Formats: sequence, structure tokens, C-alpha cells
Amino acid sequence: MNRHTAIPLLTPLLPNRDALAPYLAKLDHNRHYSNFGPLNGALEERLSAIFEAHSPDPIHVTTTSSATLGLELVLSSLDLPPGSKVIVPALTFVASLTAIIRAGYIPVIADIDPHSWLLTPAIATQAAAQTGAQAVLAVSAFGQPQDTQGWSIFQRQSGINVVIDAAGAFGSQWVKAPDIPVVYSMHATKSLAAGEGGLVVSGNPSVNSTVRQLSNFGINLDANAGFPVGHLSFVGSNAKLSEYHAAVAHASLDQWDAQARLRQDIYRAYRQALEDACGDLLQWQAGITLAAPTIFCLRMAAKARDRLETICQQRQISTRRWYQPLLHQHAAKVAPIIKQPTPIAEAIATGLIGLPFSPFMTNEDINRVVEATRLATASPILAHQP
Ligand SMILES: Cc1ncc(COP(=O)(O)O)c(C=O)c1O
Repeated sequence: MNRHTAIPLLTPLLPNRDALAPYLAKLDHNRHYSNFGPLNGALEERLSAIFEAHSPDPIHVTTTSSATLGLELVLSSLDLPPGSKVIVPALTFVASLTAIIRAGYIPVIADIDPHSWLLTPAIATQAAAQTGAQAVLAVSAFGQPQDTQGWSIFQRQSGINVVIDAAGAFGSQWVKAPDIPVVYSMHATKSLAAGEGGLVVSGNPSVNSTVRQLSNFGINLDANAGFPVGHLSFVGSNAKLSEYHAAVAHASLDQWDAQARLRQDIYRAYRQALEDACGDLLQWQAGITLAAPTIFCLRMAAKARDRLETICQQRQISTRRWYQPLLHQHAAKVAPIIKQPTPIAEAIATGLIGLPFSPFMTNEDINRVVEATRLATASPILAHQP
């Protein structure tokens, strides 16, 4: 019998029934359960104010039932010809890929920066020159924010549309360029959790209004469109956020500061302990300290990573090779793609590992993971080999 309790990879933190109660009472009173109800409207206004505090421009927030649908609808709103090519990084979640394919486009899988592990405008410039791509879906991988102003310059200079998939980056990724739409997830595992849900955030009201209509089957909702309200104007979907999910999102926002602080404190202590134990045998994604980390990902020598997985399995510590297989390996089975060389993504993937992380992690949990990592990297030959 193993004397250790299991350490899960992640444990969601959502508002409990007491925190939800005031919003559920509003729901009972309103008797409005979906279709852009009052809780949804208030949530969009609350979030716009938060984004506007980090942007020089007015910012619009449109909710969706998930980030995946939000991405698909923003990409559809670009209205590119079917079969247009869209650049996406190799190291991301499969939803980035499926959104491109479902919007009718062809993914162009590109490499990432060796330090930030992100697709950058420089990499996209090269990929676009070689493939003739008309759009880019850049990703705030592992919550690390993208430079929206840098992408705005890229978009203006190249004429190539840019959308940011910031599914896991609420609180860290801001919308500092009004012409770059950014999509966030409110899935249970994310920092602003509603169970399920997405946010399309931009400084361009026409992007938000098109996404709103696409999320409601494509029915025209705009009295000034020169087209009858209630008639179908696009081929949309049902991607509306229910009032129940909006209620959870409100309660999550109420608790945002406290849970973000907790996540940061645990993240800092955990990372410090690992650095003390393993020093430069571990490599970290370059960038800011996230406002509210939700996962814990690092890189080590491939053999040390494989050994750590075995040790963790023996000790009931869950791990995950985040975003692996890489996107082109997934895509090969489902749809035609265009593949750019991706040596950096491939090199990073061989040593990438997600360790357990949650707001419920105790010092004892951290010590157990640190000890496993120390053991896995202990042999200098093993630890330094690529
Ligand atoms: C990069 C990325 N894009 C998209 C998604 C999908 O988000 P959702 O579950 O809200 O559809 C995720 C989910 O983790 C993600 O990590």
C-alpha cells in the first residue's frame, strides 16, 4: 500500500453555493436564463471596465459558451475566403487548431520562440512569406501574454489579420491594441472560472457585434444594419453564455483578487523550492509572473523528464505533457495542414512537463514534488543530456 495520498494535476477553484446565492436569487427574480440576459449584460460591462483600466481605448466584451466557440466565431467574422491559410504555433491546445478548421480555413503550423515559447510577429512574418497566409492565430501559451501592440504593428504592415487565443491568460493578457481581438476561456480550470464560457474582447465594436450575432445562430440583431432584425445574416452557431454560467462568472470575479494572490503565492514558493533543489537543470518560460497561474509547466533534459514521470507515477503525483503531441501531430489525423519547420517546438516538447498545481497545494505537496524532481535530475549526465 502506498502511504502517500495522490496529488492531482490540478483542482479547480470555483465559487461555492454561498458565493453564488445572490446571483442565483437574481436569476430566480429575472426568469431570464439565456439569450443575452441581464446577468450576462452586467458581466460584459463589469469585464469591459476591467479591460479598459489596462487599455487607452474603449474595450468591448462579448461572452460565448466557450473559448473554442469564441475563437471559431472571431475567425469566421474575418470573412476570409474558404481555404485561407491561418498561421498557428505548434505548441498549443488542440482547440486552436479545430477553431481554424471549423471556420473553413487551413492551419499553417509554425515554430515558437525559444525563450517565451510563443509564436512571435517575426516568426509569423517568415511563415506568411513562405505560405501566403492571410491570418494569424497567436497563442498566449501557458497563460504567458502576447504583445498585442507588436501584433497590431504586424497586422498594419502586413495586412494579415491577427487574433489572439488567450484562453488561459485572463488577468495576465490585456488588450492594449484595439484592432487585435483576444479570446479568453472561463472553463473550470481557468483563473476566471464559470464552469464553461468564453470571452471575445476587442476595441472594435463591429468585431464584437458580428461575434454576438454569430453566437446567436447568425440572426441579425442590429436595427441599423439595413437588414431586418430577426433575419439570418450569417451562418452562425449557438454559442451563447447561459445566465447560470454568467452567475458563476460574477461570483468568480468577486473572489478574483484573493484567489489570484493565493495562486501567485503558491507559484512563487513552489518555483523557488524547485530552483533551490535543482538550479539550472530546470528551464522556465520567459515572461512575466502570471497574475493567477493555473498550471505549472517547466522544461528539463528529456531523460530527466522521462525519469520524473516514472518517479511521479510511483508516488501518485500526477503530471501532464501539456500541449503534446504537438499540433501538427494531432492535425495529421484530422485535416489537411501546411507545416513549417518547427525545430524549436520539437526540442522544447521533448523536455516539457506539467507538474501538479492548484490553490489547494500544501507545503507538504510541494516538498513531495520537489523531492521527486531532485531525484529525477540527480544524475548529472542524465540531467544535462538533451
Ligand atoms: C490555448 C487554448 N485555447 C483554447 C482552449 C479552449 O478553451 P475552452 O475550454 O473554453 O473552449 C484552451 C483550453 O484549455 C487552451 O488552452
